Amino acid sequence: MFGINIPPTWNIPESDATSEELYLNRRKFLGNMGRFGVNALAFSMFPSLLTASKVFGANSSDSGLTIPSGKGFSDIQSKLTMENLVSRYNNFYEFGTNKNDVWHLAKKLPLEKWAIKVEGLVKKPKVLDLDKLLQKIPLEQRVYRLRCVETWSAIIPWSGFPLRELINMLEPLSSARYVKFKTFVNPNIAPGQKARFWEPWPYVEGLSMAEATHDLSFMATGMYGHKLNPQNGAPIRLVVPWKYGFKSIKSIDVIEFVKEPPNTFWQTVSPLDYDFLANVEPDVPYAKWDQRFETLLGKSEKEKSALYNGYARHVTKLYS
Ligand code: MTE
Repeated sequence: MFGINIPPTWNIPESDATSEELYLNRRKFLGNMGRFGVNALAFSMFPSLLTASKVFGANSSDSGLTIPSGKGFSDIQSKLTMENLVSRYNNFYEFGTNKNDVWHLAKKLPLEKWAIKVEGLVKKPKVLDLDKLLQKIPLEQRVYRLRCVETWSAIIPWSGFPLRELINMLEPLSSARYVKFKTFVNPNIAPGQKARFWEPWPYVEGLSMAEATHDLSFMATGMYGHKLNPQNGAPIRLVVPWKYGFKSIKSIDVIEFVKEPPNTFWQTVSPLDYDFLANVEPDVPYAKWDQRFETLLGKSEKEKSALYNGYARHVTKLYS
């Protein structure tokens, strides 16, 4: 049911995170791995995963993978944003608006027995037990750039599975044109939902079916070789690397297949500032910010932002 996924070059996002030598090694590795019918994507980049394959394979509920190591791969490691930055500077408005507070406030999020409600235009609405789902779907690792609309960015190793795999399992009806995602609502554990009770909770995001089934659209359950941190969207979040970070909705509670583009959280809060697509387009000022430049977490200098966050080669066809 789950074929080998050998994507092109985006695992290590574009040339700024890939040396030619590394890319060539990677191709060689893919060639070898393809013959074995294993999860070539994960292993192609991180050969150390070969030893970890039994741990995270089809029979495991461990959603973290191993961090890369080994000769030739130090290149990627040096490009990754330090985990202590990615896990201490978070947007998760359910837990407040102060980025530096989220990590400790989010510890209250109860992660046990997480279930996702599947609703709307789908063959069989159901409640998905996440642990059981993770026993069925092979996990893979992907390094993506995350570009926040606020002009900071990060390079993060995620683990998880392509959203398309899940959509295929759920069998949406042909009338489904969009996928709508919702985060939990629980003001008793999420102080932001209590303090700013008038905001349009739950946090809602959405993708067209074409976007949702694109190779790059990813459901993350782990990062930096372990399960997702609560503050980064545990136990399961979306990662859509060519769009502003707010599309990458955290701690998903509901997936609904719908006919019309859903009204998203930010569109509802500020319709003049936000749109549904929210693709990274540096030449177009967006929300309150000039989008031409960005600063990687941990760096002080600005760098030029790239169209579709560097993934133009892969996604332009979605919009032409
Ligand atoms: N998801 C939910 N449910 N609530 C949020 O406030 N913030 C978004 C996105 N997903 C947000 C969310 C924004 S603005 C960004 S930039 C990213 O999460 C940040 O992800 P990170 O904290 O893991 O870096």
